[in-house]
Amino acid sequence: MASASTAGETGTAESSIRLLIVLGSPRGRAGNTAELAQLIEAGMKACAVVESDYLFLNEIPLPDCADRSLCVSHGIASCPQREIVEPLLARLQRAHVIVLASPVYCDSTTALMKRFIEHLVSLVHRPCLHEKHGFILSTCGGRAGLNVHLMREAARCWGVHVLGGIDVKMAAYASSPGYRNRITRALSGAGRDLFAACRARVRPAPTLGELVWFQFWRAVVKFERRELPSLDYQHWSENGWLDQPFYRSGRVSALKLLLARIIVLSRLVRAAVEIHGWSFLLGGRARNTAAASKRG
Ligand SMILES: Cc1cc2nc3c(=O)[nH]c(=O)nc-3n(C[C@H](O)[C@H](O)[C@H](O)COP(=O)(O)O)c2cc1C
Repeated sequence: MASASTAGETGTAESSIRLLIVLGSPRGRAGNTAELAQLIEAGMKACAVVESDYLFLNEIPLPDCADRSLCVSHGIASCPQREIVEPLLARLQRAHVIVLASPVYCDSTTALMKRFIEHLVSLVHRPCLHEKHGFILSTCGGRAGLNVHLMREAARCWGVHVLGGIDVKMAAYASSPGYRNRITRALSGAGRDLFAACRARVRPAPTLGELVWFQFWRAVVKFERRELPSLDYQHWSENGWLDQPFYRSGRVSALKLLLARIIVLSRLVRAAVEIHGWSFLLGGRARNTAAASKRG
C-alpha cells in the first residue's frame, strides 16, 4: 500500500483514474479499514489504470479546527491553519474518486475523520467537488451506528456524487466465510462501479436527497445576498448554479424537483417558526418589529 502508486494491467486507452482513499483509523495502515479499502482499489484496478493515493489521517498533524469560521467568511486562505488545510483540499481536488473510510468509534466516525471533515466546513457553503464520484467505507465490531450516514452527508455537502456506502461487521467478517465473500464481492463491485461512473459520458440524475440539499443551499445563498454580497453568492453565481436545479445541467425529473422544493420550503418555514414563533406566518414579526422600533 504505497502512499501514491500507479498500477493496473488492463487499463483503458484513456488517462488513468485518480483515486483518493481517506483513512480515519488511528491504526492507519495496520487497521481493518485500510485492509478493506484495498479491495475497492483492487476492484477499480481490475478495470483501469488507477493512480491511488492513501491519505492516512493518523500520519499527519491534524489539530482541532481553530474555530473562528474564517474559512467560511473569508475563504480558506484566511484560515490560521491553512498550511494544513490547503494541501488536504488540493488532494481532494486532484482526485476523480474519493473514498472516505473510517472505523466506527462509539457509534460515530473516529475523532480523526470528524476533524478532517470539520476542517472542510467551507465546502458546505461553497461545494467544489461536484465533479467527483465517491464511496463510503465503515468498519465496526458489530454495531454500525451513524458512521456511514455521517461520512456520506459530508461528502454530499461537498458536492461529491456518492455511489454508495457499506458497513462491515468485523466480527462476522472474521468468523463467517459466507459474509466475508459477500463483503469482498461488494467492495470490489464498488470499485468497478466507481470506474464505470468515471467513464460514463452522462452523469446520473440527482437523487431526491441531493436535490433537496442543493435547493436548500441555493435558497440560503439567495437569501444571504439580501444582507450583503458574500463569498458564497459569488461562488454560486460564478458556477451558474443560482438558476439551475442542480450542479450539473441535464435530466432532472420535474416531479422530483417539485417534491424537493416542497421539502425545502417546509424546512425553511419550520426554521422561521422555530425562531420567530407562529406569528411569523401571519406577518406578526413585521408588526412586532414596527412596534419595537416605535417604543425604541
Ligand atoms: C474506541 C473504540 C470505539 C469503538 N466503538 C465501536 C462501536 O461503537 N461499535 C462497534 O461496532 N465497534 C466499535 N469499535 C470497534 C471498531 O470499529 C472496529 O474494531 C474497527 O474495525 C477498527 O478498525 P481499524 O482496525 O481500521 O481501526 C470501537 C473500537 C474502538 C477502539
